[in-house]
Amino acid sequence: MSTPEQSTSEVNKAIPNGIAVPDFDLPFPDKSEIITSNLLKLIDLTPNERHKSIFKNLVTHIHQFINETSITTEEWMNTVQFLTRVGQTCSPIRQEFILLSDVLGISALVDSLNNPPVQGATESSVLGPFFTEDAPDVEQGDSIASEGSGQYMYVEGTIKSIHGDPIENAVIETWETNDHGFYDVQYKDREKADCRGRLRTGKDGKYGYRAVVPIAYPIPGDGPVGELLIATGRHNMRPNHLHLMVEAPGYRKLVTSLYPKGDDFLQSDAVFGVKKSLVVDLEDVNDDAEARRRGFPKGGSFKLLHFDVTLVPEVEAEKAREEFAQLRSKNAPA
Ligand code: BEZ
Ligand code: FE
Repeated sequence: MSTPEQSTSEVNKAIPNGIAVPDFDLPFPDKSEIITSNLLKLIDLTPNERHKSIFKNLVTHIHQFINETSITTEEWMNTVQFLTRVGQTCSPIRQEFILLSDVLGISALVDSLNNPPVQGATESSVLGPFFTEDAPDVEQGDSIASEGSGQYMYVEGTIKSIHGDPIENAVIETWETNDHGFYDVQYKDREKADCRGRLRTGKDGKYGYRAVVPIAYPIPGDGPVGELLIATGRHNMRPNHLHLMVEAPGYRKLVTSLYPKGDDFLQSDAVFGVKKSLVVDLEDVNDDAEARRRGFPKGGSFKLLHFDVTLVPEVEAEKAREEFAQLRSKNAPA
């Protein structure tokens, strides 16, 4: 508020960001609690109701965290320096903040709240940083992997709706590591996409393509997030998996991964992506003629991954998300 000598309009005119002085005075923050209550009063001025509610909740929890942990000035400065390094590690091809969100379980949590389980639907999993836009279009039965990049694997199934009908013209983006546990974007000499492809279902909703058995791999460990994992005694491995992103008009886009059984890291995934329903069997097919019939140039044997993907109509997916959000807010402590 203005002093008696100054009119409010004079003070407001001089404010650089153009926002007027509030029409109330805040008590001086002589006690720590007053800092929190003053900030909450100021947040009440936020014009957008959703922003106001998110920011109020955030401030309440962060201030409560600071109070409960009695964090020292040195610890807080270390935190600020850590976050600064996370930002400085980001580049056009590296997003350390997303990696931080991944290892803190935030990416998986946001994904899980936005895509709550729907009866019969394929569950979602984290996207990760290795999706690229340049996957080649492949036909049914083609290979997404260059010859020699791993053990042969054939992936097949049907894309259908939770109501049972096959979905025609669904677009499947799929990507995976080679047998060294590297995505193509990590190859030193990447000239074009490898171990990734895009295909479409036909009338019967079926899809099938050649790939390689993916290999477990470490998430980037040479930055601040890697240091955080070491400091907190956690490994940085993801179990082997095949990424699938499936889109079809009228259906909720599905971002998921399939995790072959038997991997050592299935139940300690560094980024919390594995759900039980996404753990799959790889069948051994030891049949040279069948391997050749499916297009594997060297024949021999291959692994077969059969998985039907079930999508949720957009309207039903949104209804499920809203109902789940309402249920949580009803059960949240006041
Ligand atoms: C991935 O699956 O590609 C991934 C996900 C989260 C962090 C790093 C990698
Ligand atoms: Fe991955």
